[in-house]
Amino acid sequence: MIHPRLTAALIGSALISAGAFAQDGNVQRGAGLYVSKTCNLCHTLAGESGPMAEMGGSLDNLGSKRDAAWIRAYLKDPTGTLPGATMPKTELTEQEIADLTAFMLAH
Ligand code: HEC
Repeated sequence: MIHPRLTAALIGSALISAGAFAQDGNVQRGAGLYVSKTCNLCHTLAGESGPMAEMGGSLDNLGSKRDAAWIRAYLKDPTGTLPGATMPKTELTEQEIADLTAFMLAH
């Protein structure tokens, strides 16, 4: 039988690493989400442009213009962050937002 105190320690460290995870986006996962959430339809990034790229424009060098906090807020609530925004709000979890932000800022 596994010692109860050891079990508690294992669960504790799993929770701590899950917490750290939620704040740090993962570039690799972000790249997958960028396609699966159809962001690529309306944007150009790293030479890839979708059929409606004119609409959303380029996300290259996004980091020179926007910081992570702004991007996260914008993805959560486009019109609340950028008055008059026309980008549709996509349902995303905090983790997905962090991953997408990390991906975009890596380009
Ligand atoms: C239907 C087209 C469309 C889709 C799909 C779309 N966008 Fe956009 N996006 C826009 C438009 C248009 C803008 C310009 C600002 C506005 O009108 O909201 C924009 C702006 C942005 C900006 C701000 C760029 C800047 O320079 O300030 C970011 C970041 C962004 N989009 C990321 C995403 C991500 C991530 C997704 C996928 C979850 C996504 N977009 C999906 C159309 C789209």
